[in-house]
Amino acid sequence: MPLGQRAGDKSDSRYCGVEVLDFPAGEELPAVLSHSLSSAFDFLLAPLVDPDYRPSPGAVLPVAASDLVLGPSQWSSHIVGKISEWIDLDSEDEQLRLDSEVTLKQEIAWASHLSLQACVLPPPKRSSCANYARVVNHILQGLTNMHLWLRIPLEKSEPMDEDHDEAKSSSIMSDTVDSWEWWNSFRLLCEHSSQLCVALDVLSTLPSMNSLGRWFGEPVRAAIIQTNAFLTNARGYPCLSKRHQKLLTGFFNHSVQVIISGKSNHNVSQVGVLSGDENHTEDTAVRHALSPYLDYIAYIYQRMDPLPEQERFEINYRDFLQSPLQPLMDNLEAQTYETFEKDTVKYTQYQRAIAKALVDRVSDDEVSTTKTVLMVVGAGRGPLVRASLQAAEETGRKLKVYAVEKNPNAVITLHSLIKLEGWESLVTIISSDMRCWDAPEKADILVSELLGSFGDNELSPECLDGAQRFLKPDGISIPSSYTSFIEPITASKLHNDIKAHKDIAHFETAYVVKLHRVARLAPTQSVFTFDHPNPSPNANNQRYTKLKFEIPADTGSCLVHGFAGYFDAVLYKDVHLGIEPNTATPNMFSWFPIFFPLRKPIHVPLKSPIEVHFWRCCAATKVWYEWAVTAPSPSPIHNSNGRSYWVGL
Ligand SMILES: C[S@@+](CC[C@H](N)C(=O)[O-])C[C@H]1O[C@@H](n2cnc3c(N)ncnc32)[C@H](O)[C@@H]1O
Repeated sequence: MPLGQRAGDKSDSRYCGVEVLDFPAGEELPAVLSHSLSSAFDFLLAPLVDPDYRPSPGAVLPVAASDLVLGPSQWSSHIVGKISEWIDLDSEDEQLRLDSEVTLKQEIAWASHLSLQACVLPPPKRSSCANYARVVNHILQGLTNMHLWLRIPLEKSEPMDEDHDEAKSSSIMSDTVDSWEWWNSFRLLCEHSSQLCVALDVLSTLPSMNSLGRWFGEPVRAAIIQTNAFLTNARGYPCLSKRHQKLLTGFFNHSVQVIISGKSNHNVSQVGVLSGDENHTEDTAVRHALSPYLDYIAYIYQRMDPLPEQERFEINYRDFLQSPLQPLMDNLEAQTYETFEKDTVKYTQYQRAIAKALVDRVSDDEVSTTKTVLMVVGAGRGPLVRASLQAAEETGRKLKVYAVEKNPNAVITLHSLIKLEGWESLVTIISSDMRCWDAPEKADILVSELLGSFGDNELSPECLDGAQRFLKPDGISIPSSYTSFIEPITASKLHNDIKAHKDIAHFETAYVVKLHRVARLAPTQSVFTFDHPNPSPNANNQRYTKLKFEIPADTGSCLVHGFAGYFDAVLYKDVHLGIEPNTATPNMFSWFPIFFPLRKPIHVPLKSPIEVHFWRCCAATKVWYEWAVTAPSPSPIHNSNGRSYWVGL
């Protein structure tokens, strides 16, 4: 039974499972399942094979239950297989290694036979786990649908400062663990298989938030919360620390489902934990011993804010890679214009900027005698024309508008809009590319919105260079500048989706994507800025920037799959518009971030800066980006000479 109602959430994180600690043999498994389901758990993490079993020739696998004791849909919807914990594929003991390999393969084969959705693999017993990874890698190559969740304890410990000297002498230093490293080496050995995921054991202590944040870019499918991670509230009920609660809501937001594990430490199972009515008695016999923990998890889930409407609308776009638009080379479709036009926030910002520019341009004394010439270049179906006329009305300024648009289909709509609104005497429509239009007069204000997710990536600089010929020497461009930003991210899903194309070209392409399952590793830094108008006769739009990112020390080491890109535009003076996370315009949805992938993810050891280079390159017919990492280890130059991805002029 889902944890509760959270409007818009259709993800797996609505479901909560329970780990079965003892081996449920024979008819016990259906009984345990029905008891757990009737106590509102959704699934079991259960051993499939007797843990005392060791392979021997001709032995029949002592499975927990015949495939007949549960129906096929019960096996696949309600059972996650728990692989025997004794297996140790990197043991010094050769017999144990060999037995482990045979058993692991037998158990997975049995789980596949049952059509389970997933099996949890026991945690690596040591940091060096190459043989374990080798066997899992073999298995993964033969799996069709089932996923393997490698169980990893969520821990990262460093010696405390005050312990440092003591630690040096007592060799505690060698106890430093960062379990993310185990996961990282395991998945690297398994070539980033998309069927290899993580189940995190959440313990009573937690690493720093930066360190935890790394997991949001990893394929974490389950958080196994140990009962001893729970505290006890004043009334004797289980609850979690503030940091655990924050982590849990992070997991819910990232579709990670919870599994409760361990023995009950709170003997309150007969009372609804949130009912507030402690005298209320239920049928204690049917309550699961871990029900109070489930009640608390459900309470945390139900307490979360509903997903905002826009977020619900965009849910299917999460981590979905899209090619950026090419509005210069291609003609946009009606549907695309329709989406733009729904974003009222964007047009409100433009209207504010235009109103300020009009007031600066024409003083109150001049309003009756002066008419401002405003040109909307790239007018589309007319929303910026409307914003301009509204700004004129708001400020009492007289306006003459030219609407320049090169897409003949949008021009048809523009004509009907002007007629419909009765703007014929105010607006002149020009069906032309702004770069070659011979304007009959010069403009006081040039308004455009030719911005991509990375600011200049839809070739606003090249278009506006062409248009500024018809801007008066003291004229105003709205926007007056825009800047791109990047930040390094872990994004294993995006990496795997790109890898599925099995070519280099897809790793040398920038994508527009609503980033969701990502870990943002360092604060954003600016990349390229363009100012308009640009009076310099030698101006060119090629750029090169080298950036150095420092990962916060408490993060630990990490893996960079690429760079998330954003923009911020100054429309006029203090009116800006953008998607850079720290300054993003609230409730604006016209742009998703851009993602520049790396062909081979880069491991960044603790305290090692990332050095990245970005180039904006221009030729007669196209503009493109190249990018490369030079530290902590070099990557190839991506998209050399624009061979895989470019924007047509
Ligand atoms: C991102 S859309 C914005 C449309 C509209 N201003 C809006 O906000 O909904 C950019 C528009 O500029 C037009 N455009 C791009 N480059 C152009 C050029 N060189 N000359 C004229 N129009 C151009 C495209 O056809 C498209 O309609």
